[in-house]
Amino acid sequence: MGKDVIIACDFDSKEKTLSFLDKFKETKPFVKIGMELFYAEGPDIVRELKRRGHKVFLDLKLHDIPNTVKKSMAVLKSLDVDMTNLHAAGTKRMMSAAIEGLTREDGTRPILIAVTQLTSTDEESMKEDLLIEKPIDEVVMHYAKNAKDCGLDGVVCSPLEAGKVHDVCGKEFVAVTPGVRFADGDIGDQKRVMTPAQAKEIGSDYIVVGRPITAAEDPVFAYNRCVKEFVD
Ligand code: C5P
Repeated sequence: MGKDVIIACDFDSKEKTLSFLDKFKETKPFVKIGMELFYAEGPDIVRELKRRGHKVFLDLKLHDIPNTVKKSMAVLKSLDVDMTNLHAAGTKRMMSAAIEGLTREDGTRPILIAVTQLTSTDEESMKEDLLIEKPIDEVVMHYAKNAKDCGLDGVVCSPLEAGKVHDVCGKEFVAVTPGVRFADGDIGDQKRVMTPAQAKEIGSDYIVVGRPITAAEDPVFAYNRCVKEFVD
């Protein structure tokens, strides 16, 4: 699977999203639509961005009973998204059902990746709130292996975990990593960050970049800088 930069379009309306993407005259970046934009605009925003030629990662992090996830994935399949995701915590049965729902008649399907533990979850809250006693690294790698066993394509993880994910699940298993910042940029609320060049070095397959591009004075320049550091 090819390396790419995915722009997190964390906007609350179609107008803001399109006016941001209109700045890109020569390229059609791969974009991520999260819950905020999807809940604001519904499936039409996906259709519109696909119509304009963008690849779409629909980041809805499904987590429900297997049958519901299977049927929801079948709807996302008909929206023709390029990548989508779910929570590995939903169990292997749920992940297998998701694959079934997402697979087209010809056997192809969008890239499906799993969230292991959210990067906002630390070991303390895992123990206190979820009663999970194992070290967080072990839990993340176990969930990644479960995802691989069910036929998923990869996981969302911190750039710091990407190397280990590849060691455990193989180089073909993709690591999609947010938490990317330029060496001279603002970290904002992210805690563990890496530059696009470091993410490349450590073996990320896709980087998800939001504010370093969306809040930049010149978003096209910032995007091109990411591509240059990460892909070229
Ligand atoms: O603006 P920024 O580059 O921090 O955006 C990162 C994007 O990646 C956001 O859409 C955020 O929700 C998402 N994300 C993340 N950390 C995770 C999973 C997703 O930052 N563990």
